[in-house]
Amino acid sequence: MDQIRITGGVALQGDITISGAKNAALPLMASCLLTDKPLTLSNVPHLADITTMASLLVHLGVLLTVDGTTGDNGEKGRTLMLTASGAISTLAPYDIVRKMRASVVVLGPLLARFGEAKVSLPGGCAIGLRPINYHLDAFAQMGASISLEDGYVLAKAPSEGLYGADITFPSVSVGATENVLMAATLANGVTTLRNAAMEPEINDLIDCLCAMGAQISGRGSDALVVTGVDSLTAADHSVLPDRIEAGTYAIAAAITGGKLVLHKAPVQEMGSTLQALQDAGVVCDYNEEQKTLSVYQSGAIKAVNIITRPHPDFPTDMQAQFTALMCLSDGECSVTETIFENRFMHIPELQRMGTDIAIDGKTITVTGVPKLHSAEVMATDLRASVSLVLAALAAEGETIINRVYHIDRGYERIEEKLRACGAKIERVRAAL
Ligand code: UD1
Repeated sequence: MDQIRITGGVALQGDITISGAKNAALPLMASCLLTDKPLTLSNVPHLADITTMASLLVHLGVLLTVDGTTGDNGEKGRTLMLTASGAISTLAPYDIVRKMRASVVVLGPLLARFGEAKVSLPGGCAIGLRPINYHLDAFAQMGASISLEDGYVLAKAPSEGLYGADITFPSVSVGATENVLMAATLANGVTTLRNAAMEPEINDLIDCLCAMGAQISGRGSDALVVTGVDSLTAADHSVLPDRIEAGTYAIAAAITGGKLVLHKAPVQEMGSTLQALQDAGVVCDYNEEQKTLSVYQSGAIKAVNIITRPHPDFPTDMQAQFTALMCLSDGECSVTETIFENRFMHIPELQRMGTDIAIDGKTITVTGVPKLHSAEVMATDLRASVSLVLAALAAEGETIINRVYHIDRGYERIEEKLRACGAKIERVRAAL
């Protein structure tokens, strides 16, 4: 398995262009199943998870073409055209779904348009159990019969199709909101989603669905009202830039005492992250005209308590990275994780790098230390892995990070982007 080797201590300087958001692109790609007309998505990031979703859609019979035009940063192939015309299978097999939990968002579109779907249960993952009961309960409320058989969910709509329902999610779920939202666009009548997720990626999905002809109101709130239509049509949509990638590089600037200029950072969607960074003494200057976010640390890193909660509060997907920054703060702070039950897997690895962190259930106490030292560490999930990259950029000596395939799921060309800003980072390919 590939390793990343980083020799820390370089203050990063330079420009980084933020890629399209993985978590926006995945449900957007799945929404192509709602129509037989082409859906064209631009600003799609090059990531392992995107390839997984593409292979699932192609497996189902979607025609996928990749545009050869050159994108903003000189790369080809950022525009995907997805057409779900012709024979579409409604079976999402275990072999693909097990690679990526987010595959489950094909369930809603398949069920709504074809009246049935058989989708492998995704199973647990490193950060928690992550059941899909909210998705299934909502489809049942819309009239679907749901059964579980040999590790698969079998969902069948009534012969006249799904019908609108008044659905209240027991707690906020991004994936359930997306899945049910997509299904509701083609249901008979009005569906109301209450306690819906308000993450920016949901708004991006709503924008795309409305461009396809869906009728959705309540965008940006936790109550979405969808009036079902008979069919959706072709649309072009550009994927929202990745707020988590932007936040991660902002921390890379701060933790190394350097200065990075981030292009295309979606600052409107980054409120709680930018607030926490500013509280920590990180300067985040947005230039409206040039659409750039300049980030650098001013003075000592201050200790800031954070609690992860659904948007617009502090995102769980920034928790590990912010914890890495806090390890070098001038005080003591707490970090509380309320979204996932097992999202402190990076802590034992960070402890190997000389940090001072105590875990107590959902909360960790981080006491800042003057410096970190290198170690051999192991990536455990996507955001945990990148927190190790951040710590390694600041540490003395060479850190080796194993199992970096997690990073490739969500960070496009991370070594290239960091190296261009002076980082001493290299990937050591595993011998085949
Ligand atoms: C999405 C994001 C992920 C992010 C998470 C929370 C994608 C591809 N992934 O994941 O990066 O960390 O939102 O912001 O967009 N839950 C249930 N039953 C359900 C559904 C969820 O109990 O049916 C629980 C989960 O176990 C978890 C919490 O609800 O504890 C939030 O999960 P959810 O918002 O659904 O996360 P994902 O959509 O899987």
